[in-house]
Amino acid sequence: MNSPNKTSPSISTTVNPSTVSDVAQESVLVLDFGGQTAQLIARRVREQNVFCQLVRHDLSAARIRELNPRGLILSGGPASVYEAGAPHPDPAIFELGIPILGICYGMNLACRSQGCDVQPGKSREFGRTPCHVESDNDLFRGVPKEFIVWMSHGDQVQNLTDRFVPIASTDDCPNAAVKHRTKPLFGLQFHPEVTHTQHGGTLLKNFVQNICGCRGTWHMSSFIEQQVAEMRQRVGNSRVICGLSGGVDSSVVAALLSRAIGSQLSCIFVDNGLMRDGEVESVRENFGKHFKTDLHVVDAQERFLSELAGVSEPQQKRKIIGRVFIEVFRKEAESIPDAHFLAQGTLYPDVIESGAAADGPAATIKAHHNVGGLPAELGFELIEPLRDLFKDEVRAMGLELGLPDDMIWRHPFPGPGLAVRCLGEVRPERLEKLRRVDTIVIDELRQAGLYRKIQQAFAVLLPVQSVGVMGDYRTYDDVVAIRAVQTEDFMTADWYPVPHDVLGKMSTRITNSVRGVNRVVYDISSTPPSTIEWE
Ligand code: XMP
Repeated sequence: MNSPNKTSPSISTTVNPSTVSDVAQESVLVLDFGGQTAQLIARRVREQNVFCQLVRHDLSAARIRELNPRGLILSGGPASVYEAGAPHPDPAIFELGIPILGICYGMNLACRSQGCDVQPGKSREFGRTPCHVESDNDLFRGVPKEFIVWMSHGDQVQNLTDRFVPIASTDDCPNAAVKHRTKPLFGLQFHPEVTHTQHGGTLLKNFVQNICGCRGTWHMSSFIEQQVAEMRQRVGNSRVICGLSGGVDSSVVAALLSRAIGSQLSCIFVDNGLMRDGEVESVRENFGKHFKTDLHVVDAQERFLSELAGVSEPQQKRKIIGRVFIEVFRKEAESIPDAHFLAQGTLYPDVIESGAAADGPAATIKAHHNVGGLPAELGFELIEPLRDLFKDEVRAMGLELGLPDDMIWRHPFPGPGLAVRCLGEVRPERLEKLRRVDTIVIDELRQAGLYRKIQQAFAVLLPVQSVGVMGDYRTYDDVVAIRAVQTEDFMTADWYPVPHDVLGKMSTRITNSVRGVNRVVYDISSTPPSTIEWE
């Protein structure tokens, strides 16, 4: 997504060349020029059963030849190709004979590398735009002559020379899609990866199948087999520690490792006393009984609760929980001999968030806060088998590995657990009250068939008492809030309109069965301005 007015970006994504895996015989690489939707391209290609990874924009042509991908996609990006310091690929990639698709900034780069002019257009094109297909070609096979595309650019390829032919246009952009006359080189000024572009999936499918010749044989099962083989080789005879949080990501990592190295895996689950009802049992059931891993459940409830006693300030609570978690985890890990590796459930969005500079050394990975942010001083080598995957792909992997549905679809739960939902001081009896309310909320959502439609739902115990009446008595009891949100990225979220009758059932069950709660309120705030959690 380029702009003629912006200065060159520092690109904040991608896999370092040394960590690119030679995952599949049939793969496509996306060279990342910093576009906001670059990661979506990789995912859309994987949806076509072709393995795809994002790599640094300046990966050398020699390394690309070694990796032997069937195709390359140059992503969009915020820079302008004619600016000083704008990111460029190794020019030799255009001579490799590997099919290339340039998207937006990537198209401008590809065309400019072949002698075309790229300049600011008469006006910026942004949003949904009608597009006309100009000629039959392999990229647009099965796409209607007129369809809507998503544009987000200021620059345009102005002069195609005699090397390219235009294959699609919009009112403001005569060269909305181009094809090289002799090389397998295509450019799209619009973004096929976003859902606003109609037939975008078909375009990418055409590229990987018709132009790159991929057969689409990649499946999650092949990825699992590849990861299993890689991990066995890397780990050798050592032992791997995996911190379990009860959530999806760490569970999938543990299940994968269990398949790869079986008895060489030790899982540590720290019971901090801040878990929801049934969570500790479910970890025991899945990892102790089902996968038969060497499971260490550390009962640290008293330790956490005594350190939290008297503390109300949210950040202070988080700090205490983080520190104690590391201390407890370290002590347990030290009791496990021969452990050299620590496995973490870092996902692709975490890699992006880590802001790994494309021209820096190896990508620095954000500590996975769901296991408390384990510091490098623990001295382990990291294993991160999910770092190329998106959340829904991790779920697919978990199902393939035999994890139960309810674990796979569990709503995310913050590392500090119920402590940040028990506003004010965290005391055992307050936690117990909250746990019981939370169980009712989730149970009613499940019964109403809403649990999977909502990405996160929970109860919050407020540090507020209100007056009520029960029988003939005045009460002065706690207030709980119910929160349910819909979100794609957990950075923005909308409050979910849970039907009144469902809210009514929750409220009645809560006030009838949880002693000390006489009022239930529903949170109708979106994120922003509110956050998802209350603390
Ligand atoms: P907020 O409240 O920031 O939450 O809108 C966004 C997402 O992050 C989760 N969250 C946390 N997860 N440690 C975590 O592991 C934390 O301290 C923490 N705070 C919030 C939250 O549940 C939501 O999914």
